[in-house]
Amino acid sequence: MKIAVGCDHGGFGLKDDILALLRDRGQEIMDMGTDSSDSVDYPDFAGLVCEQVASCACQRGILICGTGIGMSMAANRYKAIRAALCHEIFTARMSREHNDANVLCLGARVIGPGLALEVVKTWLETDFAGGRHLRRIEMFSS
Ligand code: RB5
Repeated sequence: MKIAVGCDHGGFGLKDDILALLRDRGQEIMDMGTDSSDSVDYPDFAGLVCEQVASCACQRGILICGTGIGMSMAANRYKAIRAALCHEIFTARMSREHNDANVLCLGARVIGPGLALEVVKTWLETDFAGGRHLRRIEMFSS
């Protein structure tokens, strides 16, 4: 599974922690920036990651900003994207099982790196349950 990762200046520090986790797991990564704490606009980086996922160049995306809210709003404007903002384990798991989320959004000013990395692991390791959940996803995907 190839994963595109992007952030704004608010998520820059946490992006490095997440990239280190993904590298440890031997995951293929596309780092779409940003690469410093200089102020940038989060919709630009949401777009770069979502284009990777929508084109199937990457199977999943992870977006980090200060709260995760702007990234999730921007990401969900893309038709093929189901972005989930998750700050604990339960919603990270359910966003995969029930919603087949293909983008995870995180707020680096909301949770610490320890919990964020557990959220990422859970989100990567949980499969979509399919069945009735597929029908429901299809209802808002056409
Ligand atoms: C940037 O200051 C901040 O607005 C951004 O990282 C994010 O939290 C937006 O939703």
